[in-house]
Amino acid sequence: MVTSTTRAVVLAAGKSSRFKTKKSKLLSSICGQEMLLYPLHALEAHQVPMTLILGHQAEEVQAAVATAGIKDVSVVLQTEQLGTGHAVLCSKDTWDADNILILYGDMPLINKELIGQLLEEHAKAHAAVTFCTAYVLDPHGYGRVLEHDGVFEIVEEKDCTDEQRVINRINAGVYVMRRDFLEAHITQLGKSSVTGEMYLPELVAIACKEKLGVKAVSVPYDLVRGVNTLQDLWGVEQIKRSEFIKYWMARGIRFELAQSIHIDINVTIGAGSFIGTGVHLLGNTSIGEECFVGAFTIIEDTTIADNTTIHSHSVVQHSTIGSNVHVGPFARLRQNVTVANDVQIGNFVEVKTATVGEASKIKHLSYIGDATIGSKVNIGAGTVTCNYDGVKKSETVVEDGAFVGSNNTLIAPITVGKDAYTAAGSVVNNDVPADALAIGRTRQENKLGYAKKLREAMEKSPTGSHIEKMRPIINDGDDEVLQFRGAVKTDPDQKIGFE
Ligand code: UD1
Ligand code: CA
Repeated sequence: MVTSTTRAVVLAAGKSSRFKTKKSKLLSSICGQEMLLYPLHALEAHQVPMTLILGHQAEEVQAAVATAGIKDVSVVLQTEQLGTGHAVLCSKDTWDADNILILYGDMPLINKELIGQLLEEHAKAHAAVTFCTAYVLDPHGYGRVLEHDGVFEIVEEKDCTDEQRVINRINAGVYVMRRDFLEAHITQLGKSSVTGEMYLPELVAIACKEKLGVKAVSVPYDLVRGVNTLQDLWGVEQIKRSEFIKYWMARGIRFELAQSIHIDINVTIGAGSFIGTGVHLLGNTSIGEECFVGAFTIIEDTTIADNTTIHSHSVVQHSTIGSNVHVGPFARLRQNVTVANDVQIGNFVEVKTATVGEASKIKHLSYIGDATIGSKVNIGAGTVTCNYDGVKKSETVVEDGAFVGSNNTLIAPITVGKDAYTAAGSVVNNDVPADALAIGRTRQENKLGYAKKLREAMEKSPTGSHIEKMRPIINDGDDEVLQFRGAVKTDPDQKIGFE
C-alpha cells in the first residue's frame, strides 16, 4: 500500500486586531510558551513538513519559531492580510505532498492525538476535504456549520442571519484537503461582501457542490478553542494550567488551593513536594522531591534539590539550590546564585550573583551581592556587601568558618579570611586575615550623668533656642555631646532643633 504524504500549512499572518495589543497574539505566552508553538509542536510529533504563513510582525514570529528549534519549516509571506483563503493561496508553491493539513496558529489546545485522528479519518473517507467541527454553548466568533443531507456550508459570524447565529455547531479551523482539489479550486474563492476577505472555509461548500467527498469530524471543543481576544487567552490558559496541575498531582505533588497556582510548561516537580497557595513556578524550573514551597513564592529558571524549603513570599530567579536548604520568608535570590546543601537564608535577605557554601547562615535582613561565601559561615543580621561604587561591581569573599557580626558593612573588594571574626557594627574596608578579629567601629564613650543634663536642657527650651543659650546649662563647653546625639544644629545662626 502506498501511504500518502502530508504537508501542514499553519496560518499566522493575521493582525490580531481583536486582541488590542501591539504584539501579535501568536507570541502571547500560555504557561510559559508562545501560543503559536503549541500547534507547531503537535505537528512536529507527526513529522510533517510545515509551511508557516507570516505577515504581521513576521520577523518576531519567525524568530520565536527559530528559537524553539522547530525544524522543517518553510516560511511564506502574506504581505496583505486578505483573509484565510488568501493566506493559504500564498503558500501554493510549497504544496509538495498529496494532502495539505491546514490549521490556524491561534488554537493552542490542539494536540497530536487530534491531528492523528483527523489524518486517519481523511485517509479512510477518501474525501477531498476533511474538517473538524465542535459543539459549543456560546458559538460567538466562530464560523457556523450548516448541514443539509450531507451537504455542508460554513457561514462566518459576520455573515450570519439571526437564525444562523444561534447554531452551535462550529467550524474548528482544522482541515485536511487533497492537494489536487486545493490546486483546482482555491482560486474560485470569492470575496466576502461584508469584509472583502477570501474565506478558506468556503472550500467546504465548493467541495460539496462538486460532490468531491467531504467528511466532518466532530471533536471536543476544548481542544480547538480559538484565541481572538484576551478573554479567550485567559480561558485557554486556565485549561492549560489545570492540565499541568493535574499531571503533577498524578505524580505525587500536593497543591494547596490548586486553582491559584501557576505552572509553566517546562517545570518539573519531584514526588512528595508541597506547593502553596498562589505560587508561580516559571520557565525552566525544577523542584526536587519532598520540597516545600510556601504561599505566594515565585520561582523562575531555578533548580532546587530534594528536601528544601522555600518559605512564603520569596522570589527566586536563575539560581541553583541544594538540599535541606531553607530560604525566606520574604527572601530574594537572583542573577545566578548557587546555594549548597544545608544553607539557611532567612527573612528579608537579598542574594545576587553569589555562591553560598554548605551549612552557612544568612538569616536576617542582609544584602549579599557579587560574593563568594564559604561553608559554615555566619553572616549577622543587617550585613551589607557594598559591591558597587557607582562605576563598577567588586567582589566580596568570606572564607569557610568566618563569623561576620551583625550590621557589618563589607566594602568590596574585600576578603574576610578563614575562621575570622568581625565585630558587630563594623565597617570592614581592609581584608581580614584568617583567624583575626576585625573591629571597625568608633569606640563607645559613656558621659556619666549627661542624659539628665540633656533632658533638663530640652525641657527649659522646648521650642528650641540658640546653642549659646544652652552652654551655661550644659556648663562644660562640650557641645560635642549634643551634636553627637543629633540634638542640636551647630550653625550658630540657627535655632536649636531637636531632630
Ligand atoms: C476562523 C474561521 C472560522 C472558524 C474559526 C476557528 C475563516 C474565514 N474563519 O475565524 O470559520 O470558526 O477560525 O477558530 O477562516 N490569518 C492569516 N491571514 C489572514 C487572516 C488570518 O494568516 O489574512 C491567520 C490569523 O493569524 C489566525 C488564523 O489565520 O491565526 C485565523 O484567523 P482569524 O482572523 O482568527 O479567524 P477567525 O475569525 O477566528
Ligand atoms: Ca481565530
